[in-house]
This record gives sequence, C-alpha cells and structure tokens, in this order.
Amino acid sequence: MTKVLVTGGKGQLGKSIESIINQYSDFEFRFIDVDELDICDAEKTEQYFNDYKPDFCINTAAYTAVDIAETQKEKAFLVNAIGPKNLALACSKLNTILIHISTDFVFDGFKKAPYTEDDAPNPISVYGASKLEGEKNIQAEWPKHIIIRTSWLYSPYGNNFVKTMLRLAETRPELSVVNDQIGTPTNALDLAEAIMHIILKHVLYERKKQAIEFYGIYHFSNEGQCSWFDFAKKIFEINNIKINLQPISTSNYLTPAKRPIYSVLNKSKFKEKFNYEVDKWEDKIFNPKNL
Ligand SMILES: NC(=O)c1ccc[n+]([C@@H]2O[C@H](COP(=O)([O-])OP(=O)(O)OC[C@H]3O[C@@H](n4cnc5c(N)ncnc54)[C@H](OP(=O)(O)O)[C@@H]3O)[C@@H](O)[C@H]2O)c1
Repeated sequence: MTKVLVTGGKGQLGKSIESIINQYSDFEFRFIDVDELDICDAEKTEQYFNDYKPDFCINTAAYTAVDIAETQKEKAFLVNAIGPKNLALACSKLNTILIHISTDFVFDGFKKAPYTEDDAPNPISVYGASKLEGEKNIQAEWPKHIIIRTSWLYSPYGNNFVKTMLRLAETRPELSVVNDQIGTPTNALDLAEAIMHIILKHVLYERKKQAIEFYGIYHFSNEGQCSWFDFAKKIFEINNIKINLQPISTSNYLTPAKRPIYSVLNKSKFKEKFNYEVDKWEDKIFNPKNL
C-alpha cells in the first residue's frame, strides 16, 4: 500500500486532508504533528522516516504566526526553512516524494497581474522570507519535490479569517475590514483534494512507467480575486448575517508584518499540468450550519 505521511497533522490543512482520506482507500495515511516529530530535529526526522518509510510526505507543518514572526525570526526560520530542509534530506534517502506547502507571501505584491511561478519572489515579511528559504532548501536537497504556493487558507479547522469574521459578528454590530489588499481565498479542502490529485497522477504515471515531468513549483488557490473586505462581505451574505461592514485602507489597520498589497496567484501551470479544474472562491465559502 502506498504510504502517505502528513506533517503538521493538527493544523488546518492537515485536518482538511484527514477529513477527505476516506475517499482514498488504496493509501495508508499517517498524520503527525510537533508532539510526535519536531521537523526541526534532523536526526529524529531521519529516524522517523527510516521507521515509517513513506512513499509521499505532505509537509503542512509551518510557523504561521505572520505578525509574531517579525520578533521571532529565528524560530520562524527554524520551522519554515530548516524543517523543510530536514524533510527533503530524509526524503532523498528513501526516494520519498515531498509535497511542500508554501505561500503567496514570498512575493512583494507590487505586480499588477496574477503571479506566475516564473516571477521573482521578494518577500516583505519575516514569515515570507522564512518560507522562501524553505523552498530554496528543498530545491537544493531533493529534486523529487512539488512545492505548492497557496493563499488565504480557510477551513472548518484551526484559526482562519472565515472563523474570525463569524466569531466577531457574534458580539459586534459593526466591523472594519481592509479593502486594498487583493488576493484569493483558498478553501483548504479544495487544496487537500488538489494535493491528492497530484499523488494519484504520480502513482498512475509510475505504474505506466512514464517519465515524471511534474516536479517543481506550482501555484494553487481558488479562482478569482477579492479584497479582505469583499471576502468578509461574502462570508456574512452566505451566513445571512446582518452587520455594518466598513471598508478601510491598510494604512488604517497597521500590523507588525507587512503584507503584499496584491498576491493573486496564476494557476495555469497547475491546471494544465494536472488537467485540473478549480472552483471560484465565492462558491466555496462554508456555512458552519451545513457542516
Ligand atoms: N493559513 C494561511 O492562510 C496560509 C496561506 C498560505 C500558505 N499557507 C501555508 O500552508 C501550510 C498549512 O498552513 P495551516 O494554515 O494549516 O497552518 P497551521 O494551522 O498553523 O498548521 C501548522 C501545523 O504545523 C505544526 N508545527 C509547527 N511547528 C512544527 C514543527 N517544528 N514540527 C512539526 N510540526 C510543527 C503546528 O503546530 P503548533 O500549532 O503546535 O505550532 C500546526 O499544527 C503552511 O505551510 C503555511 O505556511 C497558509
């Protein structure tokens, strides 16, 4: 049976992957988090891989506190740059395919059209820089990798914008949300399915003994683009919540970490290479009542 090891298993993407595995009965999955394996520990990571011998590793483990990272640079780089390096090294020893998740925050946001995989990254935050370093470390250590940059992840699990908006609306009659940062929300369940699609394709190609040509970097989010304000508006609309929602500019909502003003990802490479259709962001927002 094909073995899939998911690191960061208690995070929102890890949980989202776990929620769909009943559709993939030909695979054996194992979900682990920092309590079982700290990916910053090279020796333990190698040992863990030697014991389990996964065919695929999906690395969703990360330091994701974007604002706190500004003052915890060392920790952010340890988890987001050294951790992926350790995983890549462990994968290289066992011929394990590494699927690693990265971010739109590797870009500075000064482009006016969706970012392609060929655009030069230029992070403007510690978090973005640490994630870019993680990408580079994987590229340097192990060619059999797929790096997926995604954006604005949300899911029924963990902390995310959708859950925060719904929680705030319970106690506040009015909310102000930034209207001049443009990106694309990504339903983590859609990303989970896209990752499994890659794995299925890979297994199929190997069975047919065809050359694998799809290692490298890909962009994936839902289709379309919006501001955080548009996103919030849609969340309240779908959930029939009446609230006085006010648009504000980034200059009126200062945060410790700078965020790209524009970080829409161009998904053409992913869609073409994996023959995959992506749903519009507006159609994918969940209503907790329907869960
Ligand atoms: N969330 C977004 O909006 C977003 C956007 C773009 C890209 N991404 C990327 O998508 C991926 C998944 O994000 P997510 O939202 O699912 O993140 P998340 O909810 O923060 O989950 C990350 C998980 O990794 C664990 N972890 C932290 N340090 C670890 C270590 N040293 N060893 C092993 N596990 C460790 C965390 O445990 P603790 O909670 O105990 O620290 C957490 O369970 C990440 O690579 C992130 O950078 C996220």
